[in-house]
Amino acid sequence: MAAGTSRILRYVLFAFFGLMILYFISSSSIPKPEMPGGSNFERWKSKKDKSNASVGKSPAGPPSSGEKDLAAESGSSKLTGKLETSSGLSTGAKMNATFVSLTRNSDLWDIADSIRNVEDRFNRNYHYDWVFLNDQPFDETFKKVTTAMVSGTARYGLIGKEHWSFPDFIDQDKAKAVREDMAERKIIYGDSISYRHMCRFESGFFFRQPLMNEYEWYWRVEPSIKLFCDIGFDPFVFMAENKKKYSFVISLFEYAETIPTIWDSTKKFMKLHPEHIPEGNAVDWLSDDGGESYNHCHFWSNFEIGNLNWLRSKAYLEFFEVLDQDGGFFYERWGDAPVHSIAAGLLLKKEEIHFFDDIGYWHVPFTHCPTSEQKRLENKCHCNPKDNFDWKGYSCTTKWFEKNELKYPEGWEDQKD
Ligand SMILES: *[C@@H]1O[C@H](CO)[C@@H](O)[C@H](O)[C@H]1NC(C)=O
Ligand SMILES: *[C@@H]1O[C@H](CO)[C@@H](O)[C@H](O)[C@H]1NC(C)=O
Repeated sequence: MAAGTSRILRYVLFAFFGLMILYFISSSSIPKPEMPGGSNFERWKSKKDKSNASVGKSPAGPPSSGEKDLAAESGSSKLTGKLETSSGLSTGAKMNATFVSLTRNSDLWDIADSIRNVEDRFNRNYHYDWVFLNDQPFDETFKKVTTAMVSGTARYGLIGKEHWSFPDFIDQDKAKAVREDMAERKIIYGDSISYRHMCRFESGFFFRQPLMNEYEWYWRVEPSIKLFCDIGFDPFVFMAENKKKYSFVISLFEYAETIPTIWDSTKKFMKLHPEHIPEGNAVDWLSDDGGESYNHCHFWSNFEIGNLNWLRSKAYLEFFEVLDQDGGFFYERWGDAPVHSIAAGLLLKKEEIHFFDDIGYWHVPFTHCPTSEQKRLENKCHCNPKDNFDWKGYSCTTKWFEKNELKYPEGWEDQKD
């Protein structure tokens, strides 16, 4: 009897400790290695690399003009004209703007999570369109679910091969040797081909997809992000009214081994095209020695609100062209975050870049939570202020404030590490 009871007790204790251990493992807050480029890597990495389908092939066929517009077809009724915001901060017509997400069919439930966040905190009052891009056709389930969730029109674009393959000037053997070497040195995602296609696509092509050509402003959303605060104003209107071209919520240092020569290419561009580099740009945020070397600061580009016409400008395209020709997307592992950031820092005036403190945001493993308590309460933020990355040692946002002589929010010093 007593032996039986103690055996049961033992089982119960074992089970309990087992569960505790599982719990601690799964909820461990140890940050993962720094996220390069700000991208939804794992997703692009896992499946694609098993197939070598696009390797070394030249572009075939004309660029896809995108798939059909599900919501438009089904005649979904949408509000037009006046916005129904309760705050009344923003009035007038909608901006010429869209959300944009690069996703695969298998990302459905992760992007659904992001859409739910964006709709609840913002878009349910604004009904902006949402463009989904993929290098494979979207399946019916993906379209059905996302169309139902987006309060604006959901649109689906197929990326043409010419935007998602090796350009013919890339030496395949050299690129392969680099991937093998990076795999050996355990450089994060260093062995991935599809990750490189994705970074190059986000750097040079997403803004010139046929569907994206129809808009002037974009807001990039990746799978599995969170928004922590109500957004009671229209960031697109804010950007336009304040003459902003690019914006961020989190900035940090890039993993140096992925971009050893990106600044050499940048300097080559500066020499070649001084006409594109205005006085009063943010080069001091990118370089601590007047442009001689790169300090690796970059905006985390998995969140971006920006102007597409700027990305389509001669200045940006010529910058991308110089970088692309140097081959660093394949001979190194350049991310779109440093590419967009260096472009913004060099080609724009610093006042044209905006830090959106109001937009509480999370993408594994970093959080931006507004520093000011008043702001958090006003906007019903649900982030823990202790998680705010802004003023931590690995963030470049302190430097951003310093170089732009911005007023630090109250309480920022308590959040340093
Ligand atoms: C990948 O390349 C190898 C050798 O070049 C070839 O045998 C194989 O069929 C290719 N696989 C795919 C999925 O294209
Ligand atoms: C939106 O912007 C794009 C790109 O500038 C432009 O081609 C298009 O005509 C604009 N649409 C409207 C309705 O203004």
